[in-house]
Amino acid sequence: MKIDIFTLFPEWFGWLSRERHVANVLARGSEIECVDFRRYTPLSGGQVDDTPFGGGAGMVLRVDVIDAALRGHYGVEPVELRSRRRVIALAPAGRLLDEALVNELAAEPALTLLCGRYEGFDERILENFASDVVSIGRYVLSGGEPAAMVICDAVLRKLPGALGDERSAGEESFSEALEGNPEYPHYTRPAEYRGWTVPEVLLSGHHERIEQWRRERSRERGGRRDR
Ligand code: 6GU
Repeated sequence: MKIDIFTLFPEWFGWLSRERHVANVLARGSEIECVDFRRYTPLSGGQVDDTPFGGGAGMVLRVDVIDAALRGHYGVEPVELRSRRRVIALAPAGRLLDEALVNELAAEPALTLLCGRYEGFDERILENFASDVVSIGRYVLSGGEPAAMVICDAVLRKLPGALGDERSAGEESFSEALEGNPEYPHYTRPAEYRGWTVPEVLLSGHHERIEQWRRERSRERGGRRDR
């Protein structure tokens, strides 16, 4: 998996690459590359954004700047890029990221993430360069960078070798193994703490009963949308 992240803050992504499960997949040949929009801007003084036509607060990323960045980095006509790879613009009004979309993205050989800042993107960027517009929730962040990190984290941990224990990803929350439900509760030692006990079945060593108990708890949590 090759992920290119276009951003005004490439240095923010240093820690992400050092995070253990991300580092694990990078060591196996995956790559995260950050591209600074300012590196390719045709405007003077590193300008990348402008005031919105029609007035209003905030600044908008310019379409000519994104055009130049994609063209400069890939050496192809940016309008054609999205038919060759997913070009994902990160914006609060986009398609909500969920486990199904994460799985879809994890199956791609390469992703391009465009991080917006300020008031976001000139609409022509979304219309002409992006294959997808993705949001991580119905709230507004100051920029797409945290959303790009969320996508990298969620997608890269799906890849072989990301998790130390390969079993960890199969039966986790929202997986098919759990019928799309959240994960069952976990407990570890001590078996009793301040009078708080662990469900007896988990200490029983009876694998079938444990499995059944976990399925039931997972289904219960799936039906309960307030938590
Ligand atoms: Cl992808 N970008 C911004 N700016 N805000 C968001 C978001 C993205 N997802 C949720 N809020």
